Amino acid sequence: MARYELVKRSVALITLTNPPVNALSSAVRHAMAKSMEQALNDPKVTAVVICGENGRFCGGADIREFAGPLRGPPLVPLLDAIEAGEKPVVAAIEGVALGGGFELALVCHYCIAHFKARLGLPEVTLGILPAAGGTQRLPRLIGIPAALELITTGRHISAQEALKLGIVDQVTEQNACEVAVEFALRAVAKPLSSRRVSMLTTPCPPDLDALLEVVTMEVKKKARGVMAPLACIQAVRAAATMPYSKGIKRESELMATLFNSGQARALQYCFFAQRTAGKWTLPSGAQWNNSKPREIRSAAIIGLGTMGRGIVVSLARAGISVIAVESEKKLLETGKQMVIGMLERDAKRRGVSASLNLLKFTLSLQDLKDVDLVIEAVFEDMALKKRVFQELSKVCRPATLLCTNTSGLDVDALAGVTDRPHLVVGMHFFSPAHVMKLLEVVCGPRSSSETIATAMSLGKRMGKVSVAVGNCPGFVGNRMLKPYLDQATFLLEEGATPEQIDKALEDFGFAMGVFRMSDLAGLDVGWRIRKESGLTGPDVDPKNPPRRRHGRRYCPIPDMVCEQGRFGQKTGRGWYMYDKPGGTNAKPDPLIQNLLEMYRSRYAIQPRNISDKEIIERCLFALANEGFRILEDGIAARPEDIDVIYLFGYGFPRHRGGPMFYASMVGLERVLERLEHYHQAHPDVPHLEPSPLLKKLVACGSPSVQTWREHIKTMHSHL
Ligand code: 3HC
Ligand code: NAI
Repeated sequence: MARYELVKRSVALITLTNPPVNALSSAVRHAMAKSMEQALNDPKVTAVVICGENGRFCGGADIREFAGPLRGPPLVPLLDAIEAGEKPVVAAIEGVALGGGFELALVCHYCIAHFKARLGLPEVTLGILPAAGGTQRLPRLIGIPAALELITTGRHISAQEALKLGIVDQVTEQNACEVAVEFALRAVAKPLSSRRVSMLTTPCPPDLDALLEVVTMEVKKKARGVMAPLACIQAVRAAATMPYSKGIKRESELMATLFNSGQARALQYCFFAQRTAGKWTLPSGAQWNNSKPREIRSAAIIGLGTMGRGIVVSLARAGISVIAVESEKKLLETGKQMVIGMLERDAKRRGVSASLNLLKFTLSLQDLKDVDLVIEAVFEDMALKKRVFQELSKVCRPATLLCTNTSGLDVDALAGVTDRPHLVVGMHFFSPAHVMKLLEVVCGPRSSSETIATAMSLGKRMGKVSVAVGNCPGFVGNRMLKPYLDQATFLLEEGATPEQIDKALEDFGFAMGVFRMSDLAGLDVGWRIRKESGLTGPDVDPKNPPRRRHGRRYCPIPDMVCEQGRFGQKTGRGWYMYDKPGGTNAKPDPLIQNLLEMYRSRYAIQPRNISDKEIIERCLFALANEGFRILEDGIAARPEDIDVIYLFGYGFPRHRGGPMFYASMVGLERVLERLEHYHQAHPDVPHLEPSPLLKKLVACGSPSVQTWREHIKTMHSHL
């Protein structure tokens, strides 16, 4: 857990050995304490260097240990002792110094960082704060404003930025450990008192209160309802106003309030869920660690519309050469200019050069004969997509993978028209595709494990969080969205307003309520789908029977809004009104209010006061209920996969963990009871009927979300 060696006759080299990230587990802390004691007591030792095995300094406290009671030596006294020691200690940072790893570096008297190293205090993203002195030492070292920014955001910084801020003493392109040993030898004779950060006085701005107030407001706006950043601000205030001995106690008190909170549990769950999602498994036994992805050097995109452009940018940014195909010259030219502009802006922001040389634009599918993979992103029209796939089958070499970005059509039906159904898979990106992190990899029943592995690994290469899902209408994300949207519009019928529903959802933590989000996405898309599926349009008699389709409740208000040409932000009118077409400042619209009143009186609906609690329960429990059905159907393998999809694709608040984790936090028994209650009140809404899996889990004593998988017996897995 920590290796101790004497190098250059007088330097104790302590190497943390807890792969893969050398997390500070109880065993590591124990070994570190012993090694430090040995170094400080050995008269031959004049200096100490601390480094991490395998080119990684330290990824911080062992998060897996957070669930149990604290074992082994606590970190704060251990770090205090390192700082107080009379022999110079040098941190040799390679790879990462994060969280407790960064705090370890802060107590070392000197820091050498490899130029590729990254440092940061990401505790806030786990719902906690840096509790090994980080909130007390960092402000003393770099000042309050810079420390506040790093601690409240959890942002990772480069070695160069750390050097500029005065966190590290030297950045090297050589082996950091070797450089640190030489540095340590030179540091032996130098006094250490000014190198003990806890002894420094925090450089304090004269307007401290005003500064903290501004940061508090910013944090509250950015992370509505999230506790950890606010506690971080309080801890930094303590660093500014108290001596270290008192500040560290304040840090510890604040940590205690966060540590056992539901938010910390949710955020730590998200950390592991994201990593679990990459570990896909098929019923055949094929899985992430036994299926080799193909190497993708070149790709093609068909259709340079909203999605195609973003996908081209994502691929080029990952260093893959791309051929983009459009149907008409003018559209090709427009798409080309848009892609070039996006790539140039993106490269400027990241301080790199735009990879324009990787791009080729064409009107001919014939140019695709040698590419490794194609992603089709033409209109959502099955007949058109089938024609494109048939054509691709003829043109592309037999080994080329054929992928579709359809947002809900049958991937297997497309596979069926090709000469290589095993090489067909869905790659469902989210808009804007070069920004959104989520990628649903839709596995058709005939997609081979190599094909799935390739799509998953390509997603990772593009910086996406890829989740393998089964093939059904809407896959996971869009399938679950339907009951959520339905509940929101039913609540409108019953007496709520768009702004009331949005506020309840935004107070819950969503960045945008459902109606503001729909205005942003465009209301016409769903309207077109409803018309195509016969739910609305001239052939449907709205009075016979009213507010019902196919035997279930149907709310025609969204259709009525679209019939008035209100398509959302792009037309300047939707569920809200905007200053101008394309405007983003949503204001309540009296015309919508009138429409709702007329609608209710037409159908003799007595509006009632609807509580925020009912809004949250009906929207979110209906969402989770569909998630349970998706698990039953084998469309998603694990609740973690569903949660990751909602976190990265639909803006579900991370501090709530995702819809399935949220349901588990509320208590499955309570979710079941509320769904039964609402279903009784609305028997014509099948989505409110509790799913068999939810009932089964409750009957099994509501096990933790991580063990649901053991209770899911799928009749037929679609994965
Ligand atoms: N504790 C326990 N396990 C950890 C861990 C940690 N701090 N950091 C990473 N791991 C595990 C991951 O779960 C994963 O496990 P798996 O292989 O079983 O799925 C494995 O290490 C590799 O992690 P990644 O897949 O994330 O590897 P990457 O190379 O992509 O990223 C990393 C490495 C940047 C270090 C990233 O893992 C990371 O950000 N880790 C968390 C860092 C963090 O938040 N540290 C703060 C901890 S809290 C703390 O220190 C409190 C302190 O103030 C007292
Ligand atoms: P879009 O309408 O913006 O773009 C489609 C493009 O395909 C147009 O530029 C069109 O000229 C081109 N095209 C049509 N036929 C073609 C052909 N035969 N050859 C070459 N190009 C052709 O559509 P959008 O929004 O980009 O959607 C594309 C696909 O992505 C659809 O299947 C959609 O369901 C899916 N999708 C859309 C999302 C969105 O938010 N817009 C999100 C996720 C998936």
